[in-house]
Amino acid sequence: MNMTSPIRTVYVNGQYCPESEATVSIFDRGYLFADAIYEVTCVLGGKLVDFDGHMARLQRSLGELDMGMPLTVEELLAIHRKLVAANNVVEGLIYMQISRGVADRDFNFPPEDTRPVVVMFTQSRPVIESPLAKRGLKVISLPDIRWGRRDIKTVQLLYPSIAKNAAYKAGADDAWLVQDGYVTEASSANAYIVTSDGKIVTRKLSFDILHGITRAAVFTLAAESGYILEERSFTLQEAFDAREAFITSATSFVTSVVEIDGVAIGDGTIGPVSKRLREIYIERATAAAS
Ligand code: PDD
Repeated sequence: MNMTSPIRTVYVNGQYCPESEATVSIFDRGYLFADAIYEVTCVLGGKLVDFDGHMARLQRSLGELDMGMPLTVEELLAIHRKLVAANNVVEGLIYMQISRGVADRDFNFPPEDTRPVVVMFTQSRPVIESPLAKRGLKVISLPDIRWGRRDIKTVQLLYPSIAKNAAYKAGADDAWLVQDGYVTEASSANAYIVTSDGKIVTRKLSFDILHGITRAAVFTLAAESGYILEERSFTLQEAFDAREAFITSATSFVTSVVEIDGVAIGDGTIGPVSKRLREIYIERATAAAS
């Protein structure tokens, strides 16, 4: 339920309707098995940021789960644009979820002709002037006990939600997840450090992390701006000793991390590399949004 804005128009399986009238079946496999994938696309100035990147990842996630594209990219784009317009979203996001469809509860996949359920809704909120981005994030570390295919953007988000909640309870903003002594990523963002010799380090792409669309964009922008990027795993200790730390995601862009497990990173304020990368990212994303 959206408590702060008027009733939104949402999209459910070919229908546009008020959010109060939108329903999905209790037999939806997304609901029963988390058998669904999703994408979150940022809206800036009423336009979509990196829509093609999100569509490419969507197709990959669907393929990895033996699901087909229920609609063409052009059709999905048209729905995104229609929802942005219908809800007057200037800044915020669009959430899109595609489940394997509705079938009686059975661990086996339903017949191939089962129709996927497509749901989309918007959320208006400040992204550029985010209060958290202005002050920098405090994070805690937690063990990464998620499943082994984090590269697939499934709606199976219970542990990230538990981790974020644990962070809030501990007076922090988010959690960085750690596996075998190395940081994988944040609860819903990719994680980076800037080493004492100025290199930007982030874990390389694998099944262990989500292949962030913002990560790919920031890689290009950072390289263009002369920063040296190193794709490798890093330990928590390296993060404590780092000059800076930050996260990236579609809805946080580049956001500085100023404290991990109570340890101030660098001088405990937003560092110049993350500040600059955020500025460049916002500039480019705003210009390229379509
Ligand atoms: N989360 N890693 C995880 C685990 C994520 O959930 C996300 C995104 C990212 C960053 O990916 P991208 O740059 O493509 O947004 C990395 C979205 C924003 C969410 O779940 O709301």
